[in-house]
Amino acid sequence: MSDSSEMAGKSAAHLIKRVLMVPPKHFTVEYTINPWMGGVVDQKKAFAQWEGLKNAIEKEGVQVLTMDQTKGLPDQVFVCNSGLVYNNKVYLSRFRHKERSGEQPLYLEWFKKNGIETIGEGYEEVFEGGGDAVFSDPKTLWAGYGERSSKNVYEKVQKLGTFETVLCDMILPNFYHLDTCFAPVDENTAIYYPPAFSDRTNQEILKRLPNSIAVSEKEANAFVCNAITIRNTVISPIGVEEKTKKSLEKLGKSVTEVDMSEFMKSGGACQCLVLRL
Ligand code: ARG
Repeated sequence: MSDSSEMAGKSAAHLIKRVLMVPPKHFTVEYTINPWMGGVVDQKKAFAQWEGLKNAIEKEGVQVLTMDQTKGLPDQVFVCNSGLVYNNKVYLSRFRHKERSGEQPLYLEWFKKNGIETIGEGYEEVFEGGGDAVFSDPKTLWAGYGERSSKNVYEKVQKLGTFETVLCDMILPNFYHLDTCFAPVDENTAIYYPPAFSDRTNQEILKRLPNSIAVSEKEANAFVCNAITIRNTVISPIGVEEKTKKSLEKLGKSVTEVDMSEFMKSGGACQCLVLRL
């Protein structure tokens, strides 16, 4: 516990030990439920990109568990939407769109089989799990709502444990999940795209995470905020500008960029493909 990276391990992001990923065996773009969706997926390329991400995560010492993708559920690769995990308990998702509802029972079964306590079966509100809700430290949950998750659901999600929930008003349709415009990097820092949030939420971000780094519109559109930080490495899609890299370097972080072009055809990238367990 003496070296500085272990000390920094107090943040939730740094605490990642195990994640779940779904190999893109049947990944396509067949319907449009967010503004980014369109184009034809090169399946070989998608598989290679997914492996690239998995390798980058494993390189940081994180164990990657996998679950098989079911044919006919092309978005199951975005497994971070399956629920929100906290202390080996998961609050299960309820998807906004019927196109993804079929994923729910599969996740429930996987969690049960893998010894993760499940809560939140059969509620009314919508909630898209790790896509809209992420911890910056074990006591602070950032909770996006608007397009995919309802504001009211977070009272129920609170059943996961003792932490404070910071509601985030999201105001741009292109940034439809919190993880498209906000990524915690450590307990004092996020990378985020300010125009995606109300003034109130921007103020909360700067108050609670004072080292936060605002990305440009170009970076936001390259899905740079769809990043996952493990210890001091920020794993993000290609497109992080020098200025952002320098700001991160000053905080002792380095950036690993992985090509996510195929998954961006569906409106997802690094963080969406990974569920923190
Ligand atoms: N096509 C998927 C959807 O619209 C992409 C999900 C991306 N996931 C995320 N956490 N942002 O549901």
